[in-house]
Amino acid sequence: MADKLDIKPATGKLGILTPGMGAVSSTFMAGVIAIRKGLRQPIGSFTQMGHIRLGKRTEDRQPLVRNFVPLAELGDIVFGGWDIFPDSVYAAALNAGVLEKDLLEQIRPELEAITPMPAVFNNYFVKKLDGDHVKKGTKMEMAEALMQDMENFKKEKGCDRLVVVWCGSTEIFMKPAAVHADLASFEKGLMEDHPDIAPSMIYAYAAIKKGIPYVNGAPNLSFDFPALEELAKETGAGICGKDFKTGQTLLKTILAPGFKARQLGVSGWFSTNILGNRDGEVLDDPESFKTKEESKLSVLDSILQPELYPDLYENLYHKVRINYYPPRGDNKEGWDNIDIFGWCGRPMQIKIDFLCRDSILAAPLVLDLALLLDLGRRAGLPGGIQEWLSFYFKSPVTPVGLKAEHDLFIQQTKLKNTLRWMMGEDVITHLGREYYDG
Ligand SMILES: NC(=O)c1ccc[n+]([C@@H]2O[C@H](COP(=O)([O-])OP(=O)(O)OC[C@H]3O[C@@H](n4cnc5c(N)ncnc54)[C@H](O)[C@@H]3O)[C@@H](O)[C@H]2O)c1
Repeated sequence: MADKLDIKPATGKLGILTPGMGAVSSTFMAGVIAIRKGLRQPIGSFTQMGHIRLGKRTEDRQPLVRNFVPLAELGDIVFGGWDIFPDSVYAAALNAGVLEKDLLEQIRPELEAITPMPAVFNNYFVKKLDGDHVKKGTKMEMAEALMQDMENFKKEKGCDRLVVVWCGSTEIFMKPAAVHADLASFEKGLMEDHPDIAPSMIYAYAAIKKGIPYVNGAPNLSFDFPALEELAKETGAGICGKDFKTGQTLLKTILAPGFKARQLGVSGWFSTNILGNRDGEVLDDPESFKTKEESKLSVLDSILQPELYPDLYENLYHKVRINYYPPRGDNKEGWDNIDIFGWCGRPMQIKIDFLCRDSILAAPLVLDLALLLDLGRRAGLPGGIQEWLSFYFKSPVTPVGLKAEHDLFIQQTKLKNTLRWMMGEDVITHLGREYYDG
């Protein structure tokens, strides 16, 4: 057994700040408030409902995760954030139409009390949106204003610690450029208003600079380049992303490992979606869609490894479509047609029609990520990319030179083993008990 890490207790309040206070953010905040009042249960949250096996099977030790690791209590969470619209979380939740109006009415005063701070925004990066609840100045001045917001929030709400979780819109597709190569170039770029620095990068910079853990819930480039990784290592901020793993991609990462485990071939995977929320409208813009598409497409290749299994997956045709269809609101419908083949090459088909509520799947991920990153910081984990949280993302960010792991079950094992290791418990290898000592 390894030594338990010296984890500081979760005393005081934890502030969770979200840039973007739309469907995901308001569903998360309203959900936690409803759960605190005993009105609902935290379904979908590994940290709140999951158990973890410890030691040998014969020991029958399977505590709840939240009783095993010292997480912040839901009652100690304080919410805040930024948006380009000044709507309170009550108005945002009502507009998103994800949770029932009856439930929102019961917690209305708490939700109305949470209002967004003015955002850092530029319509060039999200073509379908415009709002005037925004900051002005050079990119460096806006980064400094965000840092001041974080400081003020912490003081005013009496928080001990903060975590920032990006729940803002998907920006246009971007690749790392010279300005992202190192911290000095990036900071110079902020001062000179460099056009390749997007708002999501400014939030990430501000949080990381202050040593605050940062989650990227969208497929945006955000911090995924050397300059901000360098800064995170320097300040000790844990960072992870990108793009919450929900809906169709969640199902892909559940099914594809099963096909590979049984050596079944896949010749085609066609995925199409209709959704009518603001996210759907933003993704109706081809430049924002491209960012999402890249994030969704990477999954199958990585799980199925066509380079190792050319006979099974080399000719796989993978197509992803997202169509904006207002009547559905947040109630997305995703269809998958999967063409598979088996023994002697005989073809078979699988059809999936997932009537999904995107934000219902995303909200528990926001909670888990904030709690686990906060735990990681109190446990003294080194700053930078937190690969042990890949479980939660469509395209997990990895250190340069390493391939991302997309298989949900390998990701889950990694997450659980990291928690066991933090607490000085044996990691579980699933090697038969007859082959090892004890
Ligand atoms: N819903 C899901 O299951 C899911 C899954 C994975 C990823 N995501 C991503 O999470 C993000 C949020 O999704 P959503 O459904 O809540 O979308 P939404 O459109 O309801 O909310 C996004 C909010 O961000 C605000 N915003 C945009 N740019 C901003 C900026 N620079 N600063 C502050 N606020 C800004 C918008 O005004 C809006 O209120 C999107 O990028 C989406 O692609 C969502």
